[in-house]
Amino acid sequence: MSERNPLVAGNWKMNGDAASLDTLLDGVLSELSVLALQRCSVLVFPSYVYLGQVANKLRGTIVGVGSQDVDERTQGAVTGGVSAAMVKDVGCEFSLVGHSERRTLFAESDELIAEKFEQCKACGLVPIICVGETLEERRQDRTMEVVTRQLNAVTSRVGLAGFDGAMVAYEPVWAIGTGESATPEQAEDVHAGLRKCLAELDEDLSSRTRILYGGSVTADNAVALFGKENVDGALVGGASLKANSFAEICKAAEES
Ligand code: 13P
Repeated sequence: MSERNPLVAGNWKMNGDAASLDTLLDGVLSELSVLALQRCSVLVFPSYVYLGQVANKLRGTIVGVGSQDVDERTQGAVTGGVSAAMVKDVGCEFSLVGHSERRTLFAESDELIAEKFEQCKACGLVPIICVGETLEERRQDRTMEVVTRQLNAVTSRVGLAGFDGAMVAYEPVWAIGTGESATPEQAEDVHAGLRKCLAELDEDLSSRTRILYGGSVTADNAVALFGKENVDGALVGGASLKANSFAEICKAAEES
């Protein structure tokens, strides 16, 4: 058995409201209690405004909570900003950084994302650094070049000690929200390449770092994706908004 236990994370993006997210969580908790997971960890990533509500509800349960982003600054005159310390303060232990929607819609650079990653670590949050190529980059055969550049921007800033404990999510941009997942073979190729890239930093770090796949993961394709050696779980968007499909994906990870 791999030393890396699987992990399934639900990225709720800008969806839901106080009442519907409460109902969703009730459903998730009830489905997961039936599964009695032993190996698979489960996380959810609500919008900032619901982090406190969700963290309070999940305290003492098996489901962890994280933010979808953090500001790269610590505090002060940053209207609209939310710091890593604030996220930690309301009960979160994780944060995504560098999601492709942040890179595209908010023009976040590799360097900015590395600063956000560093802030997470400084405040005791576990960062999940998201990387992924566009369809055009894949067609140009530049996938590995792009994802290693995105990952190296972080590792070169924070170093071995600064990266330890973090996770990576490979999310090909063309697979996000399109219904067209990467094939298990495509995912495995990139995950293996990312692991090789981490091994250049440190072999042990590489073998213990979880690399999640994201992009149109569903209950139907999860088993095949999780069957691959270097796919350690999933970062799920759309299918995480329904308790039963999210739980099915957790079940697939548990049994992988
Ligand atoms: P979908 O699962 O909806 O494709 O979203 C993936 C994603 O962006 C998770 O962060």
